[in-house]
Amino acid sequence: MKIVMLGAPGAGKGTQAAMIAEKYGIPHISTGDIFRFNIKNGTELGKEAKTYMDEGKLVPDELTVRILLDRVSKDDCREGYVLDGFPRTIPQAEVLDGKLREMQDGIDFALDIEVPDEHIVSRMSGRRACLNCGATYHVRYAAPKQEGVCDACGGRLVLRDDDKPETVQKRLEVYHDQTQPLIEYYAGKGVLKKVDGTQELHKVFADIVKILEG
Ligand code: AP5
Ligand code: MG
Ligand code: ZN
Repeated sequence: MKIVMLGAPGAGKGTQAAMIAEKYGIPHISTGDIFRFNIKNGTELGKEAKTYMDEGKLVPDELTVRILLDRVSKDDCREGYVLDGFPRTIPQAEVLDGKLREMQDGIDFALDIEVPDEHIVSRMSGRRACLNCGATYHVRYAAPKQEGVCDACGGRLVLRDDDKPETVQKRLEVYHDQTQPLIEYYAGKGVLKKVDGTQELHKVFADIVKILEG
């Protein structure tokens, strides 16, 4: 099963992708998490990505595509995967489709998690992220057992550098401009499914499971 998560920054792509990955035993691949892991470890890739991310801009397609194709060619991806934050532009989607077509394959579901912009800024200010394993929490809606500590790996939880309100605003603009056109793109391929992302997160997940098991 190959799934693409669509939705604005903060819509809950990462939260739902992690739950899907666990339930169906497929890898959760987040390009944002891969970049943050590289930033934390001070790699060249991380240094380059950070200059774009801190301004709320997209990392260039060329670099992002290279990393993603490398990741999906690993053995653990044979049975499928859930992509979170990729593709984010039409050219990225075309490269992915081209690669899958070579293997007579394609994306099974593109799940669009719909959340209006007004909800986003407040969600982001309460988010806490584990830079070690990528797990995501919210101080009110999805609190960790112990404040500031990741339930999954014991890592330290932080407010992401790009979650400042000004940067969130910029990310929303970039989303509407460059990423939202993917909704039409996947609708055209007959794999788009919309989910109401304003509901409580377990309700959102229940709706997703219904779609996947439809
Ligand atoms: P990325 O890490 O992908 O960030 P994003 O798309 O902006 O999305 P977020 O991770 O902010 O939100 P999310 O939808 O995962 O929401 P979450 O589940 O955390 O990308 C970061 C940057 O990297 C980009 O800006 C770009 O620079 C670069 N990048 C990455 N991929 C790229 C690509 N392909 N091409 C180019 N550049 C790329 O939820 C948000 C919060 O809300 C959490 O606190 C959560 O607990 C809470 N929450 C979730 N669901 C609910 C709910 N139903 N009710 C209440 N609270 C909820
Ligand atoms: Mg995310
Ligand atoms: Zn962790």
